[in-house]
Amino acid sequence: MEKSPVRIILAPLQGFTDVTFRNVFARHFSGVDGAMAPFIPTMGKKKLKLSRLNDVAPENNKSLFTIPQILGNNAEDFIFLAGRLHDLGHRKINWNLGCPYAKVANKNRGSGLLMHPEKIDAFLDTVLSGISNTLSVKIRLGRQSKNEIQKLLPVFDKYPLDEIILHPRTGIQMYEGAPDHDAFGEASRLSRHSFVYNGDITDPASFQVLQKRFPDIRSFMIGRGLLSNPFLAETLKGLQAGKNKISRLKDFHDDLFQGYGAIYSGPAHLIGRMKGFWGYLGPSFRGKDKLLKHILKSESINRYKGFAADFFASGSEFLS
Ligand SMILES: Cc1cc2nc3c(=O)[nH]c(=O)nc-3n(C[C@H](O)[C@H](O)[C@H](O)COP(=O)(O)O)c2cc1C
Repeated sequence: MEKSPVRIILAPLQGFTDVTFRNVFARHFSGVDGAMAPFIPTMGKKKLKLSRLNDVAPENNKSLFTIPQILGNNAEDFIFLAGRLHDLGHRKINWNLGCPYAKVANKNRGSGLLMHPEKIDAFLDTVLSGISNTLSVKIRLGRQSKNEIQKLLPVFDKYPLDEIILHPRTGIQMYEGAPDHDAFGEASRLSRHSFVYNGDITDPASFQVLQKRFPDIRSFMIGRGLLSNPFLAETLKGLQAGKNKISRLKDFHDDLFQGYGAIYSGPAHLIGRMKGFWGYLGPSFRGKDKLLKHILKSESINRYKGFAADFFASGSEFLS
């Protein structure tokens, strides 16, 4: 049987991959088949923030199919938010069970729930009979230990899920250490669900290792690798020759700057947002440390713009 084509999904990165980023990204780069939006926390009816819904509204996301993600452990609030997302047209939603931050996890949300299979079981039982959307889950191997997943898989097997996106680290590992490929392989073998691999795909070599090791896995989610190298998905799919990289990156940057400029009123917000991207993108250029430092230190729009223009004009080499 012929293999299905590889699917590459842009990972949710709170503070980075919002609707502005997703649209600008899709205008400049190819290879990404869809995106998962950064999490929306559950909120009761009274607290619903329309800006969070606007981020995922299908009419604002025409260039890249986007699945909304919800973070929370209150079934009633989850069902309410899922309903609003369904009203907007979202047939698919995702539940965040991976967020590693103590502030979130200590309240039994995100990866904090992974230690409590019985709570996940009760939540899915209530939620899946109360929503009209289909659900996927984004998980880690556990909160404290990678063995936690062994008790979670039978719980997930009880319910219909679109798929399971697994980032094979524990919550307390945050982003330290190597993703555990053995544990990913075992989990995907033991589960009846389809798995999506997520974690540390940064270049063709790291992707090929996974493809060779897991020939049956056809979906991959990439986050930081796409911020560091926006050409990554098209390179992995052999879509573009990779010429004019610097001018394409400059156009992307300028478009992003304009997009955020239209949203943020003060310079601090705008420059702060752009510096976040430079933190990932900048180190992918060779010999640009000094100019990158200038960008990361700039506090006025004019200085920022000047340094960014110098950066692209000064004959850079990108990841070569
Ligand atoms: C700054 C940042 C923000 C993130 N925000 C989210 C989020 O909103 N929802 C989520 O499920 N994961 C979030 N993640 C985790 C990523 O989606 C992804 O699982 C992780 O970065 C590993 O994939 P990567 O190595 O391809 O980046 C975030 C990660 C980072 C670094």
